[in-house]
Amino acid sequence: MHQRRILVAVTGGIAAYKIPEVVRVFRRADQVVRCIMTSAATEFVTPLVLQTLTGEPVRTALLDPAEEGEIDHIDLADWAELLVVAPATANSLAKLAHGLADDLVSAVALATRAPVLVAPAMNVNMWNHPATRANLETLIERGVRIVGPGEGELACGWLGAGRMSEPAEIAAAAELLLASKSLADEVVLVTAGGTREPVDAVRFLGNRSSGKMGFAVAGEAARRGARVVLVAGPSAVETPPGVERVNVESALEMRDAVRSVWSEATVAIMAAAVADFRPAQALDRKIRKEDLAPDAGLTLELVRNPDILAEISKDRGSRIVVGFAAESHDVIDSAIRKLERKGCDLLVANDVSREASGFDSDTNAVIFVWPGGEIEELPTLPKTDVAAQLVDRVEKLREARR
Ligand code: PMT
Repeated sequence: MHQRRILVAVTGGIAAYKIPEVVRVFRRADQVVRCIMTSAATEFVTPLVLQTLTGEPVRTALLDPAEEGEIDHIDLADWAELLVVAPATANSLAKLAHGLADDLVSAVALATRAPVLVAPAMNVNMWNHPATRANLETLIERGVRIVGPGEGELACGWLGAGRMSEPAEIAAAAELLLASKSLADEVVLVTAGGTREPVDAVRFLGNRSSGKMGFAVAGEAARRGARVVLVAGPSAVETPPGVERVNVESALEMRDAVRSVWSEATVAIMAAAVADFRPAQALDRKIRKEDLAPDAGLTLELVRNPDILAEISKDRGSRIVVGFAAESHDVIDSAIRKLERKGCDLLVANDVSREASGFDSDTNAVIFVWPGGEIEELPTLPKTDVAAQLVDRVEKLREARR
């Protein structure tokens, strides 16, 4: 990846003193860099330093006729293949989250269609404030990537989270985003969430899947340029930007939805927790206990649901098929057996008995299990990072096939 156009937007925090090094790392990697700054940022690092390092004029004002004459702010927004906001102060995060456009940085951030990477830096209490957390969540939901902040001694004297990530970390995160068109030719089918198997008009058999893992995978694939169809059981998680969502309830509906996109799909990633059984009969009215003999129990007869993953694996042709496995014990052995039984190219096993892993948590501890029994164990990571690691593996599988 050379000669990619990176626009670095510097806002007014003490960590701005590290931005010349960020620029140098990009330049050493042969990227084309331009800088824009808020006026507060110019108090911490001078435009002349950044102009010298980038070899490009540095803009600091939104409505300066001379600067707009050089390259106007919309041209700058269009020019960027990647916008890096670093350091991103609490104020600039708020502006980005709320779509303000009252200075050059926020106006360019609103106008650009490029991916946006944000490197927050601020006092730990500002970082932990509910307002900042909410702004951050809004940005993440919108597809903005966040790098850091790190923890440690802060310039303000406090100890905790709020240190801007190191230049090399920012560059690595930028590289990942710039690689994001790597799935441009793929149609990725993702299943997510749990199914609901109807018992009667008001009851169902379900499970604890929130959809977070599958939605994160869908978002990651979309960020890398794939067309993504997300077949989702009931979930409160917001649909990631650029993802086509098909809502289903039961396993049978999920199978129908998967089949209807199967001819177009080139990759399938099956993160849904699909019920293996459903009630043999679903009553269309409510079962009332008053209708049963006093003290009588109720026996539900269950029948098997189709195994959607096993079905599509048999008919996969040149498609890449990835399964998930929720295991509570003998994780690796049963995942290896499951991979063989279901016939997929890669199985992502999660140990759902571990804390902060599996159902409904924001993090997951997964093991990639490959045909032949090779395994790769990842540490507990945010589900978004697990998704990025998984999609990296899918890309490698695709390259290997080519
Ligand atoms: O949604 P979250 O709260 O974020 O939780 C994430 C998760 C724990 C649900 C997810 O990481 C996960 O492990 N998903 C698979 C859960 C599961 O049902 O595992 P399984 O071992 O029962 O199924 C194995 C594979 O076969 C899965 O890819 C599953 O989608 C698929 N399957 C299972 C049964 C069935 N009838 N049809 C299927 O396609």
